[in-house]
Amino acid sequence: MHFSDGLDDVVAAETVLSEVDGQAGRLIIRGHSLDELAGRSAYEQVVRLLWDGFFDGLPDDLAPALGAARAEVFAEVQALDTGLLDRTPIEAMRALTARLADGDSLDVALRLTAAPAVFTAAVVRSQAGEAPVAPDPRLGHAADILRMIKGHPASAAEAEALDTYLVTVSDHGLNASTFAARVVASTRAGLASATLAGISALKGPLHGGAPGPVIDMLDAIGEPANARAWIEGALEHGDRLMGFGHRVYRVRDPRADALKKAVRKLGGGSNVLPGRLEFAEAVEQAALAILREKKPNRPLDTNVEFYTALLLEALAFPPTAFTCVFAMGRVGGWIAHAREQLAGGRLIRPQSRYVGPQPRRAA
Ligand code: ACO
Repeated sequence: MHFSDGLDDVVAAETVLSEVDGQAGRLIIRGHSLDELAGRSAYEQVVRLLWDGFFDGLPDDLAPALGAARAEVFAEVQALDTGLLDRTPIEAMRALTARLADGDSLDVALRLTAAPAVFTAAVVRSQAGEAPVAPDPRLGHAADILRMIKGHPASAAEAEALDTYLVTVSDHGLNASTFAARVVASTRAGLASATLAGISALKGPLHGGAPGPVIDMLDAIGEPANARAWIEGALEHGDRLMGFGHRVYRVRDPRADALKKAVRKLGGGSNVLPGRLEFAEAVEQAALAILREKKPNRPLDTNVEFYTALLLEALAFPPTAFTCVFAMGRVGGWIAHAREQLAGGRLIRPQSRYVGPQPRRAA
């Protein structure tokens, strides 16, 4: 039997949810190009698109139901004790999410979609010594997330920028966290179990944990003149440059441009630091040039996480919580994939090849 390290040449699911074309640098989400959705649709609309046909009784407008689910899950915030507040935001958010009941219904799906948003906001505020802010079910999901984090209403431009981000990362083929969610869903464990598998896989720095370290890299570089020496030093040390490279894309990740556009749009009058985007662009150009020199056999380009870092920084999320914000968007995709797996897929159970020692005597 063929062994594939990392499974890059294995097709493990057929899906109607999204297509990632790594050669053309193109992403399709349920029949729509990323350009058609990012900056044009609210997150709730894209979740509705992803879930269409996978749930009975799906309302035409998901926003009120998702708002009500935010209000419901807020009750779990009382379990946020000092032990959890000592953990990283994603560990604390995951622990609160694990308190939600499992199941396969639309109500369970809505509560799980609300969970990363409500719990992350409560964790971030509590870690900053501020009281959690209860959800406002009448608001759109993105506007309410910003309000729950900041403690006051966000501007329309900020809410639009966060919506663009959540939509951009809502689904992306069989990435590691979605695969983990589908594996768990294939055992019929339930949507909460699948979502927790997704959060756990997303947490790693090779997947959704990259944007926090992008800010660390920008801060360590400090100014464009330092970029080359810093990047060369990191590569000589054997480090990977966060925000670059992708398993599927051999060209620029189209999500990087969608998010860069959102940072630029947010620019004037907001909290994008003056010159921050230009500085990041200079670091990006230096990194791409050096990666081409040092890794000539591997096309390495900018991935989604580089401009995610700039956008979430501009929206004043702390870098320690960036992966949680990724989960707020990707959860809609995990749930759609879990339902798709349940509807038509078999138990996912590949084989391993034994390369350990044989017993000394045959039994
Ligand atoms: N910086 C430096 N070198 C890199 C990078 C990088 N960011 N990415 C890959 N490479 C190099 C590897 O060192 C390796 O070089 P070698 O052949 O000389 O040893 C070569 O490219 C191939 O590496 P693989 O590990 O086989 O590539 P893989 O497809 O597994 O990598 C990954 C994909 C994990 C995303 C990788 O590019 C990486 O680690 N990037 C940095 C982390 C990051 O930004 N992650 C977010 C990805 S997007 C997302 O998940 C939402």
